[in-house]
Amino acid sequence: MSFFTVRLTSDGVEMLDQRLLPAEKKYLLLKTGEDVARSIEDMVIRGAPAIGVAAAMGIAIELRNTNDAGLPQALDRICQRLQKTRPTAVNLTWALGRMRQSLEDKMATGMSASDLRAEADALAQQIHDEDIENCRAIGDAGAILFPSNARVLTHCNAGALATAGYGTALGVIRSAHRDGKVRGVLASETRPYLQGARLTAWELFEDKIDVKLITDSMGGSLMRRGEIDVVVVGADRIAANGDVANKIGTYSLAVLARTHEIPFYVAAPISTLDLLTPNGDQIPIEERSTEEVVVIAGTRIAPVGVEALHPAFDVTPAELVTAIVTERGVARAPYTDSLARLAGV
Ligand code: MRU
Repeated sequence: MSFFTVRLTSDGVEMLDQRLLPAEKKYLLLKTGEDVARSIEDMVIRGAPAIGVAAAMGIAIELRNTNDAGLPQALDRICQRLQKTRPTAVNLTWALGRMRQSLEDKMATGMSASDLRAEADALAQQIHDEDIENCRAIGDAGAILFPSNARVLTHCNAGALATAGYGTALGVIRSAHRDGKVRGVLASETRPYLQGARLTAWELFEDKIDVKLITDSMGGSLMRRGEIDVVVVGADRIAANGDVANKIGTYSLAVLARTHEIPFYVAAPISTLDLLTPNGDQIPIEERSTEEVVVIAGTRIAPVGVEALHPAFDVTPAELVTAIVTERGVARAPYTDSLARLAGV
């Protein structure tokens, strides 16, 4: 792969600035936990698993900057700050919880401050490395489900850029492509932030996987014309009953896929499962700035004074999901049982 999404170095957290893609490949070096929090809010890094990995690294660098006596308070403060950055991506809560629990347990044993900082670095790195491994396992498990010669539709960006590497939905596409099963990929542009046009099209093009861009409104007609065999998307949060929160527009594609009897797969790591949330109605949906809707690349496209809406995610009911592909295997309905089993509950 010709890029990395995020990495922890002795100098800080290095991050590819996704706002500039595909025009420019520029890495930022972040030195504090607050820098990492802002980078998540400002979409320098995005995609639920990548947000979780970045947050874990944000804790690690914050502890490097803190004196020995202040470590417990700094841990609490930076966890609270990072938690507020993006509300729908549950991988964020998961990564913060894992870091916090482990570090507080170590503090309780009386571990020295320098060892504690080293532990934070090591765990953040482990969360990063496991995410890549999980994506590869998701990719291989999902590829088996694809028909041969598949024409695939994906929405938003659930690729290497949205994870520590390889991707979830794009991981499935990459593995299926490796196995010779992919004829071509349609990437929907994903208004308003254009993750499909800017990021998914870029990743697949770089990987020499046949990709064509479509606008968000073209999916239904292409399904009706028999030009799509399978849909695969990622997830920001999956409730206990299998309802899936993902990028706005996912729900419409799931309804269309059902009407046209096309399999609709969701690919996500176990860290995207939120079994404490019973169903999708309880998932918090991030509302983003309406500026992102009315302004494209610096140009206002709607009359001044016209307001816009911007829910960044939607919920696809479990009954529209053919299967959920995780690193531990494939869950099918009834999801309340199958997801709990995969999660080991
Ligand atoms: O707003 P974004 O770009 O963070 O939204 C990303 C998505 O909706 C992805 O599909 C999801 O996070 C899964 S990424 C593997």
